[in-house]
Amino acid sequence: MVNLDDLEVLQVDREGMLQLLLDLPEHVQTGERLGLTADLPRATDVRAIVISGLGGSAVGGELLRAYLSMECRVPIWVNRHYVLPAFVGPQTLVCVVSYSGNTEETLSAFAEARARGAQLLAITSGGQLAEMAEQAPVPCIRVSGGMPPRTTLGYLFTPMLTVLARLGLIADQNAPIAETIDLLRELAAQYRPGIETFRNLPKELATQLYGKFPVIYGVQDFSDVVAYRWRTQLNENSKVLASHHVFPELRHNEVVGWDRPPRRAQDLWVVLLRDSQELAKIARDIEVTRAFLQERAAGITEVWAQGRSRLARLFSLLYPGDFTSYYLALLRGVDPSPVRAIDLLKERLASS
Ligand code: PA5
Repeated sequence: MVNLDDLEVLQVDREGMLQLLLDLPEHVQTGERLGLTADLPRATDVRAIVISGLGGSAVGGELLRAYLSMECRVPIWVNRHYVLPAFVGPQTLVCVVSYSGNTEETLSAFAEARARGAQLLAITSGGQLAEMAEQAPVPCIRVSGGMPPRTTLGYLFTPMLTVLARLGLIADQNAPIAETIDLLRELAAQYRPGIETFRNLPKELATQLYGKFPVIYGVQDFSDVVAYRWRTQLNENSKVLASHHVFPELRHNEVVGWDRPPRRAQDLWVVLLRDSQELAKIARDIEVTRAFLQERAAGITEVWAQGRSRLARLFSLLYPGDFTSYYLALLRGVDPSPVRAIDLLKERLASS
């Protein structure tokens, strides 16, 4: 295995993913400013909020749903489809998000939301979505282009959060955003390549996951989105398969699969996403399940949330996953940025 403390290893990162990861706190800050200065959608008598997008453009919506699940009085639904659910109509606020602005499913959902008279907001770096928003016209938040969509979470998530607060649908988000930015800056300093493996959590985790199948477990309506993000970052950055599930549901089905895993159980490494504020019942659930898994998995690593606000705690769980997937890519000798399989299939679909 290559040595992650030898900075020569960074040469594998030909397209500069590292800087984009380190810049997440700055992206959150810029995203907040974009949201504070954006034109607002109509937003009258909003009964539901839908965020429509795919892949790297959907995860900000998932984060919003998980973050606001205990606060927002209207349901938040993430739509990853060409079509919209039946409830969408004039009393639905639909945020259509596509980083490139050219994702087929998302453009189709935008057209459908317009036809149903929904209250619309678009977020994109350009493409056809920007044109459609201008023609409609509907408010459109424009973010900088030229980055892999999965690295633009701060740009895509934070404006939605700020806009919801400006519309009075949720409380003011100034304080939690400020805490999140500060905490992310601290974590970025701890996770950078110059910090040796023995005191660098993501490097240590990447070393543990090397050659293993990562299984990421979070908690419903909080770190469920984080578990999903870890998985997709491991897919896209490290180019590995991974799985994720959530407590308490996983104790009612997934655990049975541990008796006959698809690979030798000794190839499976579990990451448990923990939070000191998780419900006592959930904590007990995790402890009991961890003891069960301990006898079966190659290893278990717990990653604990940091910070006070729910937002900072969520980001503090998500951020080490981004870096772990990055360091695992370096260990595997693969450039974290290119996603050839996604590009290839998009091209095939466009010409079919
Ligand atoms: O990571 C990726 O490149 C993908 O998951 C994209 O985000 C996804 O294909 C959708 O594209 P876009 O984000 O441009 O709408």
